[in-house]
Amino acid sequence: MTRTIIEPFRIKSVEPIRWTTRKDREHLLRAAHYNLFLLPAADVLIDLLTDSGTGAMSTHQWAAIMEGDESYAGSKSFDRFRKSVQDIFGFEHVIPTHQGRAAERILFSVMCKKGDVVPNNTHFDTTRANVEAVGAEAVDLVIPEGKQPSVVHPFKGSMDLAALQSLIERVGRERIPLVMLTVTNNSGGGQPVSMENIRQVSALCHRHKIPLYFDACRFAENAYFIKLREQGYESKTPKQIAQEMFSHGDGCTMSAKKDGMANIGGFLCTNDDLLAQQQKDLLILSEGYPTYGGLAGRDLEAIAVGIQEALEEDYLRYRIASTAYLGSHIAEQGVPIVQPPGGHAIYIDARAFLPHISQSQFPGVALGTELYLEGGIRSVEIGSLMFGPAATMDLVRLAIPRRVYTQSHIDYVVEVILEVWKHRENIQGLKLTYEAPFLRHFTARLEPASNS
Ligand SMILES: Cc1ncc(COP(=O)(O)O)c(C=O)c1O
Repeated sequence: MTRTIIEPFRIKSVEPIRWTTRKDREHLLRAAHYNLFLLPAADVLIDLLTDSGTGAMSTHQWAAIMEGDESYAGSKSFDRFRKSVQDIFGFEHVIPTHQGRAAERILFSVMCKKGDVVPNNTHFDTTRANVEAVGAEAVDLVIPEGKQPSVVHPFKGSMDLAALQSLIERVGRERIPLVMLTVTNNSGGGQPVSMENIRQVSALCHRHKIPLYFDACRFAENAYFIKLREQGYESKTPKQIAQEMFSHGDGCTMSAKKDGMANIGGFLCTNDDLLAQQQKDLLILSEGYPTYGGLAGRDLEAIAVGIQEALEEDYLRYRIASTAYLGSHIAEQGVPIVQPPGGHAIYIDARAFLPHISQSQFPGVALGTELYLEGGIRSVEIGSLMFGPAATMDLVRLAIPRRVYTQSHIDYVVEVILEVWKHRENIQGLKLTYEAPFLRHFTARLEPASNS
């Protein structure tokens, strides 16, 4: 049997990418106030800022788009979308939204109030912000291994059950309107949650009559990790595993920009009739009618096909292997990364990479900007700039868009990272010159800390 894992697709349409010189990039970085979000995408060579909405769609998705029914109410596209979502997720009510955070805002607005507490393995930034926006507290309860970048564990995204139990005892069941599980755990390194953990969290929640919701953005990658790593799942299909995962929950939020393989879209699911009604009322206020929720009929079609494609085994084998390829090639040269490699991204431990830069001078931002200067690569900081003092790690995430880059692109990324690794002692920290009151990393402005 051959060992090489190839991209399981042929390329039918290409998008040129543009080289810049180091001098150009120095100028561009200054103009972007050392915030990679503020760079024009045209000046980025390899864009690993996010895997969200940046994937390439398949011929089947493009064909489905032509079937888009743009009727305001009751479109055929919505029927196909709901059927496809229910086939995998199994929830009673399926509410389309324009992306994941819209589903989050509606969910927390309906279920939470001031003083409530929402536990999660690790809240993603928009999830935390939406919990906090209604006056509730977002608590991260990932297992201790999940907070130590170099520790190898097959399911570093799992929830700390004992910590969840003691939180419920301490604050009382009445203040916990729901528990969330993020699969895979993006902010914790794209690490999966085991089926056993899902089962145990579900049992604990249901013993206390607390609903369990999934943040399902990368459900297919989580299902594939369970297949690879958890006993008893070797011969199950990723789809069967995903169906089993969701059978333990009461609903979910989903950004279809990830394992929906679409460029936009999301949804909110629940089994609760009353909540669904309240959620739809709110949806009409800001997103649109419940059979389109802010999306075009063609978007619903792309998602209906995309969530099924994300579960294809050839695709998942390539996806997980190509992410691990990047991780192992830099790790074997000594670059500290979150181990083992996650599903959608490699996370470099910036505190270990740049031990001479203190947290207050944003080691993750310093490393990310250096990768851009060196080779035109855009990454994202997940650390002190994104989370402020609550940050337990300073990571640089290299997120891999789905079906976009080939192995030679990744070889180039490896080369650039290793070049930066060689001169890491010369990299300097940064200081903030502007910050917004929330989600500050998107618009923050910085400058080298040595500037007076
Ligand atoms: C785990 C997780 N939850 C929620 C979201 C929010 O989704 P969206 O960007 O579609 O609003 C993201 C986006 O990256 C995510 O990774």
